[in-house]
This record gives sequence, C-alpha cells and structure tokens, in this order.
Amino acid sequence: MSTPSLASGPEGPRALRPLLDTVLQALDEGAHARGGPLPTGGPAAVAARVRVAVGDVLPHNGDPDALRTLVHALAEGAADPADPLCAAHLHCPPLAVATAADLAASVLNPSLDSWDQAPAASELETLVTRALAAAVYAGDATPADPHSAPPDALITTGGTEANQLALLLARETHGAGLRLIHGANAHHSLPRAAWLLGLPDPVTVPAPTGTLDPAALDEALTTLPGPVVVAATAGTTDAGLIDPLPEIAALCTAHHARLHIDAAYGGGLHFSDRRRAQLTGLDHAHTITLDLHKLGWQPVPAGLLAVRDPHDLCALNQHADYLNADDDTEAGLPDLLGRSLRTTRRPDILKIAVTLKTLGRTGLGALVDQVCDRAQEFAALVRDHPGFELHDRPTISTVLFRPAHTTDDAVAAVRRKLLHQGRAVLGRARLDGRLWLKATLLNPATRPDDLATLLALVEKAVDEPA
Ligand SMILES: Cc1ncc(COP(=O)(O)O)c(C=O)c1O
Repeated sequence: MSTPSLASGPEGPRALRPLLDTVLQALDEGAHARGGPLPTGGPAAVAARVRVAVGDVLPHNGDPDALRTLVHALAEGAADPADPLCAAHLHCPPLAVATAADLAASVLNPSLDSWDQAPAASELETLVTRALAAAVYAGDATPADPHSAPPDALITTGGTEANQLALLLARETHGAGLRLIHGANAHHSLPRAAWLLGLPDPVTVPAPTGTLDPAALDEALTTLPGPVVVAATAGTTDAGLIDPLPEIAALCTAHHARLHIDAAYGGGLHFSDRRRAQLTGLDHAHTITLDLHKLGWQPVPAGLLAVRDPHDLCALNQHADYLNADDDTEAGLPDLLGRSLRTTRRPDILKIAVTLKTLGRTGLGALVDQVCDRAQEFAALVRDHPGFELHDRPTISTVLFRPAHTTDDAVAAVRRKLLHQGRAVLGRARLDGRLWLKATLLNPATRPDDLATLLALVEKAVDEPA
C-alpha cells in the first residue's frame, strides 16, 4: 500500500477534493436512508446496523471504502439537528460556513499550546476572545478606567469546561474553603465542578418557579460563613429561563460574594438588538460561561469563559520548558500555556471568527430572533390546541408542553415512542413537579408548517395505542 495522502502540504488539496466529494455523497445518501430526524427502531436496531456497517474495526488489510461506509453509517444513524422535527436539546445545526472553517482548522492542525505550533491561530484567538469578552462586558458594571486591564475570555470545550474553570478561578482567588451557592435550576456541571475541585458541599437555593429565588439566596448569603461564589443561570437547560440577574448581582455586591453566570444558552441573546436587554446584569459577573455550539450555530466544541478581571487568569500560569521557556518568552514568543487546562488544543476559534465576521452582529441577531420567534409561534399553537397544555410562554427558544389530562408516565412514553419510530426528537423536563415535553428550537430554517407537523405528530403518538 502506498503512503496515505496528507491533508496539508502541496498535495493536500488534490488529495482532499475527491475525499470531500465522497463525504458529501455519503452524508446525502445516509440522510436519505434515514429518511427522518432520527433512525428508526431504537438503540438495538441502530446498534445492529452500525455493527454490520463497521465490520472489523482494525482489519489486517485496510479498506479503501471505509470513509464512505462509516460516514454513511453515521449519517444514517444520526439525530439530525437540521431536521425541524429534531428539537430536543441545546444541539444546534451548525452553519455551513463554520463547518467549512472547521475543515481548514483540521487541515492546518495548529495546536494552541505554543506559538511555534500556531503562530497566526494564536493571534486570531487573542483578538476574538478579547472582542467577545469586551462585548459581553460592555455594560455599566465594567470599570471605564482606561488603566485597568480589559476583560478576556478563554476557549473551552463547552459550558461544562467553562463552568469548571470559573469555579477553579474563584477557588484560586478566595481559597479552598470557597463554597458554591447555586440554584436548583443550575446545570449539573456546576455542583460537579465543586466536587471535582474539592470544594465544600455546595448549597442549593430553591428555584420554585424555575428561576433562582433571590429571597432564599439572600438568606443563604446572610447565614453562610466564609467566602462564597454564587452561580446564576441565563438560560436554564430545562426551560430556557433567566434568573433575575440584576437582583442577584446586587445581593452578591452587598454580601461581597463572587458571581458566576452560566449563560451557555442565553448568552447568544447578546447578538440580538431586540433581546439583548434580557441579559441586563450579565456584566456584573466575575466570570461568564458562553457556548456558541448552542445559540451560535457552531459545530461542537465552541465554549468560552469570559473573565472580567484578566488577572484572575494568572492562576492558570504554567511552565513547561519545551513550550514556554523563560528565555523564549522574554525574547517575545507568546506564552499560550496559561490559556487553558488542556495542552494540545485545536483552533476552535477559527470557525467562531469566520462566523462572527461572515454574519456580523446583524446576521447572528437575525438567527437568534428567528428561533425565538418560532418558539413563540409554537407556544401559541400549543396554547390554542385543546389536546395540549403549555407550561409558559418561552423566554428564549424552549417550549415546555404536555398532552392534556394525562400522566407523567404517558408523557414519557410518548417521547420514547416518537424516538423509537424515528419521527420526532423531543426532550423532557420536570418542572412544577410534573413531566413536560421539551421542544428546544435552535434551527433557523424551521418554518411555521414544521411546527404544525411536530405538534400533529405528538398528537398522533398520544392517540395511537401503545
Ligand atoms: C445552562 C447550561 N450550562 C452548561 C451546559 C453544559 O454545556 P456543554 O454541554 O457544552 O458542556 C449546558 C448544556 O446544555 C447548559 O444548558
């Protein structure tokens, strides 16, 4: 067998072009074979089809058709977020331009742990992270002092890593006795990060209506001794609700508590002129989790942690002679090692930068408005349908609803039936003590007709015998 072609170098484009044709064709054929938002038959049927397609994972002699076979199998067995009937999770359909940029990132393969592996990519990351941090910290809360260092942001693998980093930076500022206070509505990654970092057991503040209760937070802040970090949420996972950020920020200021805001979902509202005000108070946070593989239409991963005071980042400084020797740094080679807990790190910034520049604030804001408007329309359809109950009008783009006059078990069964049949992908959320179906609308191409189809499918699944 001859040496396999490389993706970069003089022969790269010639080698890649036919392979890209193969990939695009296999994606298309796989999607046709699937024929809907999800493969049919449930886990056992999908697993059996994948096993047949894969065959011998490490054959003695290679199979030149493996690219076609495996891409086809994955596409056939995909939950496709670009299908309007796939609306369960904060799982967005990626933009074509972002995905194309991601291909370039894979071809060039820069690694952002040292300048000599990523000369231009490291500068791009510096520019874009600072610009995004400046944008989210543009409010009144950020000191206008020209002598204070501007906010900064780190690239992460998503909301989970950003939340972990936020707690790590908080611990390094306030000591290992730091306690996390979070709402009952917070993402599980926050208490998990507290566990991972060896912090005292977190305190969970009730969120009786889906958002953190400020009176309960006040009480916790008044009674708890020692340093605390409060984690609020802008865009809850289950319902897309936004905690009362200005009130929470005022309480944190009054009690000298650190504030982290998990805006993994809601942070995208910042792009929309119509909806930015929903994030009022965000810039009071010491750290903010953002995640552009949710309301930012990026291929996974595309997380960020914005940090108001960049001095906090000194906690991540690290020395490894092969990557950031002192004399190299003194001679002007940028030191990248403190920009992440990871070492080898792909340039996820490229797809983000390309997207921001291609669409601009207006283009991204329009996408945000589109999905939020669709959610309002879907909620109206549900509200006007006698067979369904609407939980509430959506705050972002999540709609909770359930068939009327039925049990939680029946709600769960309807969801599983649709999944098994491959007809629709809806999520589930428990709120107000009841189980709801969850439609998370993140597909800007979804049309009003698709919403009617989705609701009709659920209605049909409710009426069908089990
Ligand atoms: C509010 C919130 N924070 C954090 C996360 C975790 O993000 P990721 O899955 O990108 O790690 C999620 C995921 O849905 C989320 O909804």
